[in-house]
Amino acid sequence: MSSSLHRYLPLALKTQPHNMLDYKNPNLVITSQDVEPDSITWRSPSNIAILKYWGKHGVQLPRNPSVSLTLNSSFTDTMLEYRPKESGDKNISLEFFFHQEENEAFRAKVLKHLESVSEIFPFLRQLDLTVRTGNSFPHSAGIASSASAMSALALCLCSLEEELFGTLSEDDAFDKKASYVARLGSGSACRSIFPTAALWGQTGEVEGASDLYAIAMEDHIHEIFKTFHDDILIASSAEKPVSSRAGHSLMEGNPFADARYTDAKRKLLRLLDAMRRGDLEEFGKITENEALTLHGLMMSSNPSYILLKPSTLTMIERLKEYRADTKHPVFFTLDAGPNLHVLYPEDVVHLVQPFVVDELVPLCEDGKYIQDWVGEGPEQV
Ligand code: PMV
Repeated sequence: MSSSLHRYLPLALKTQPHNMLDYKNPNLVITSQDVEPDSITWRSPSNIAILKYWGKHGVQLPRNPSVSLTLNSSFTDTMLEYRPKESGDKNISLEFFFHQEENEAFRAKVLKHLESVSEIFPFLRQLDLTVRTGNSFPHSAGIASSASAMSALALCLCSLEEELFGTLSEDDAFDKKASYVARLGSGSACRSIFPTAALWGQTGEVEGASDLYAIAMEDHIHEIFKTFHDDILIASSAEKPVSSRAGHSLMEGNPFADARYTDAKRKLLRLLDAMRRGDLEEFGKITENEALTLHGLMMSSNPSYILLKPSTLTMIERLKEYRADTKHPVFFTLDAGPNLHVLYPEDVVHLVQPFVVDELVPLCEDGKYIQDWVGEGPEQV
């Protein structure tokens, strides 16, 4: 972490956050105006859920635990510039640029998020802020950017707290808070903070697991998963007719909701065991079942809806045929959209990639796909 002067350290140390569960801390305020204008930049990746988070309650709390692989080449870069506020008002002062251009819709979203975390970071109201952000993948690719975007922003906010107050110097404290704050922006974003794999959600299976933030799973899984590829095949880049936010809400009236949450908790045990042992067959069974369960839940919501495209189903069929013929460990999963994620370990890349390129990519919209793989998590740049 940076070697800032931590001008405000004594004050911050006097009182720890009074409620560790919500991190609200009125003491994180700047007592003088001599903050040097500066900036913080984080690059944070997207993640792909293996066990899906679908259904929430309260303030972004999951109805069941989820497990994800952290990706590498789908990321968001976010720079947070800050300087002492010129006006004396208490509003959050924010300029926002997406790929170098002002973007009012995104600014409004980020401002709303910053308002919602302003009791966690009260100093935000004392600064003029500029956020400059951009994704490694085209905005029109149909790839959800909320996980990478909200985790990158959360990391910037925690770095700023550390810079000003020196309160998050321990890695664990920093990661936990960054994950907590990312969760408030977008549930799945809390898992992007960690390298390789993450678990979000209360379970007695792994020590430290919580509904409030994700935890690192790197040390709980077989090495093979660190080598996994994820080829993301773009079946459609059109905007989804039903957003994830609406999809989560529809789970509240879904007649299968309770059975789903019970099933997810049961699958968690099997998945953790398979990932620990490196049992790819069992991993693949759970992964694919989860993908189809997620879309089954959409189809059984009221009103029901379908996000899959005919080409998604054709790709799934081809992949299954290929696997049956070759016995190679290649599996699919889906996000809340029509794009197919094809997962396989590095040791079959020379076999599987030609299949993906020759047989699946031609089924994609304009031949669009993204080569991704399991990565090392966010980095400060
Ligand atoms: O984080 P949200 O609110 O965009 O929800 C994401 C839900 C899924 O991507 C479908 C599953 C998951 O666990 O990431």
